[in-house]
Amino acid sequence: MTDTLTPVLTDTWDAERSWALSTYLDKGGYAGLRNALAMEPGAVVQAVKDAGLRGRGGAGFPTGMKWGFLPPDDGGPRYLVVNADESEPGTCKDIPLMMASPQHLVEGIAITSYAIGCHHAFVYVRGEVLHVYRRVMNAVQEAYDAGYLGKDVLGSGFDLDVTVHAGAGAYICGEETALLDSLEGMRGQPRLKPPFPAVAGLYARPTVVNNVESIASVPGILKNGPEWFASMGTERSQGHGLFSLSGHVTRPGQYEAPLGITLRELLDLAGGVRAGHELKFWTPGGSSTPMFTAEHLDVPLDYESVGAAKSMLGTRALQIFDETVCVVRAVSRWTDFYAHESCGKCTPCREGTYWMKQVLRRIEAGEGQDGDLELLLDLCENILGRAFCALGDGATSPVTSSIQLFRDEYQAHIDGHGCPFDPSASALFA
Ligand code: NAI
Repeated sequence: MTDTLTPVLTDTWDAERSWALSTYLDKGGYAGLRNALAMEPGAVVQAVKDAGLRGRGGAGFPTGMKWGFLPPDDGGPRYLVVNADESEPGTCKDIPLMMASPQHLVEGIAITSYAIGCHHAFVYVRGEVLHVYRRVMNAVQEAYDAGYLGKDVLGSGFDLDVTVHAGAGAYICGEETALLDSLEGMRGQPRLKPPFPAVAGLYARPTVVNNVESIASVPGILKNGPEWFASMGTERSQGHGLFSLSGHVTRPGQYEAPLGITLRELLDLAGGVRAGHELKFWTPGGSSTPMFTAEHLDVPLDYESVGAAKSMLGTRALQIFDETVCVVRAVSRWTDFYAHESCGKCTPCREGTYWMKQVLRRIEAGEGQDGDLELLLDLCENILGRAFCALGDGATSPVTSSIQLFRDEYQAHIDGHGCPFDPSASALFA
């Protein structure tokens, strides 16, 4: 682990017209694709395995291993689908990446497609972010015009088409199988796994679904070698990643650093918690990862260390909350979100998130009853591991972790028949 930033995906973000193909080429862009096309596809897969790249969408599944799950080529189509439906509360890395430097993604798509034998790749972008959709479309067009996509990519004989698709703005469509249903034109709802998409994905064909940042990280590996990537980070969480700092922090934004950096180090880079205030709680990887407090400032932000501290690295969405924030209010808002976004397919998630929302709202409003905290924990226990997909499990994390860490604060709402906090004190833009 080093204590410095590692500008790889962010290397052009400060340049004028950072998104343009010419800017990307000036920084050595597409050298990774040239190297890949000179290799056997299997060797490209092996390079990504050797680099130790793990899925940057939240789950941290090894990327090269996922590619290796595709069955042998049967002559039929196989697909790459990029999950660009970033929606987890607090998560805001893929959208800036696609806006500032979309060619990292486009080059990564070309390399990955070559590696897995895909001739038609898709990018599924959130429907609300029209500007991102346009930017990625534009980047894809620039890459076609320059011969990095289309027929006979760089004279290699490899053909690749890329379709950019805008969803309609549903959190559930970030779940990979709901995304595939949506892409096929159906209502986005998760499918039963197995079979995993690697075996039966888009149009029931072998499909690799990867997050934007995962795919955007591939060109660097092919350009600089797997050892270069593996030299960053920790032994089992290798490479660089975008850490998104938001909330009560002096300089919020994207900090690209080796995995294993700590929040304390990141806060040093970001000017600390807002002046005159102190850290109360934070999320290591978006709202669906159990929350941390100031006690966790020195937990290395890698998959193993965060897991050992009973949370998850998730999407590295570090939402910082100072002492002015009511934890009940924060958790209540997140639960509203999960209840609203539950697709309704399974009962534990549909009914459970709605029920949790009702209980949290009444506690927040000063109408909480004795036994409400036990009821909340019981609801969480009955959702966890019983929902159809990760949405239900994720919805329980802020509730259980906040009751564990701030039980007295919940109790104060119930006993005092109201919220002891002044909401205007925590507002960033009062
Ligand atoms: P998962 O652990 O079920 O799967 C991760 C990936 O590995 C999937 O692509 C899956 O197909 C693949 N995989 C796992 N086992 C496999 C096997 N035996 N064979 C073949 N492929 C296999 O996790 P999931 O449900 O895909 O994602 C959950 C995570 O997503 C959460 O931890 C959360 O951090 C994150 N998340 C991210 C959001 C965002 O906006 N980026 C939104 C919500 C959640």
